[in-house]
Amino acid sequence: MTMADNSIVFIDSGVGGLPYLKMTRECMSKENLVYVADNKNFPYGEKSTQEIKEIIINLIQEIITKIDPKLIVIACNTASVVALSTLRNKFGIPFVGVVPAIKPAVEYSDNGRIGLLATRKTVEDPYTDKLITNFASGCSVKKYAGIDLVEFVEKKYFLSTDQEKLKVITEASMDFVDSNIDSLVLGCTHFIYLIEYFKQVLGSSVDIIDSREGVVKQVKKLVEYNGLSIKNKNKDTFYITGSNYEKSNYREFANKFSLNWGGSL
Ligand code: DGL
Repeated sequence: MTMADNSIVFIDSGVGGLPYLKMTRECMSKENLVYVADNKNFPYGEKSTQEIKEIIINLIQEIITKIDPKLIVIACNTASVVALSTLRNKFGIPFVGVVPAIKPAVEYSDNGRIGLLATRKTVEDPYTDKLITNFASGCSVKKYAGIDLVEFVEKKYFLSTDQEKLKVITEASMDFVDSNIDSLVLGCTHFIYLIEYFKQVLGSSVDIIDSREGVVKQVKKLVEYNGLSIKNKNKDTFYITGSNYEKSNYREFANKFSLNWGGSL
């Protein structure tokens, strides 16, 4: 296996973190970027705190052994909310997490009514309540778990029509429309694939917000701060865990984001 030199690794349960890798590449074109889709353990959002922690710790251990990255982006809200502090205590490399962009949403909102669409685990986790207490105390925050939507992006993104995409988003947005929100936080990285459809369904009066900008800024800062310079730029690579992916769309996702197909991690 050829591994990228001095790389930044992005992980998620599936394809959700790829838009984060993409924006990082746009800002830091010389870095070696590696993506790991933890297909073996998809989906994270329906698992318990303990299960998610164990899965992520084992995955990070494997990535450190096989890739030896200089920085890891936990490009998954569920894993970050549940396990980020544990990972920072356990492993001696820098981590950047992706957590729901509640703070920016408050800044965008005029009417103080905010929506949070995320996985069941992210919606229920006390970390999310803490984010809301700390940054949105004067606001009304409507939370909704878009369970079917995660599966839809992972399995049907390339196979579904525009009509089908609009239908699942209309269903997931009903509570938000009723609550008269004016900013919606996409608190699951998978949902970024559907951002244009959210705009169509919710209209121009609702701002759709995710965490990409803040995350890329933090990656850049850490790389510069730690003096983690690059030696040779390789083609960015997509790896996958487990072995049950041959009939799926992962190669298409790798192509869409101009990544080498690395196969099994
Ligand atoms: N993409 C992940 C997130 O941001 C979770 C998807 C899953 O449930 O595995 O939360």
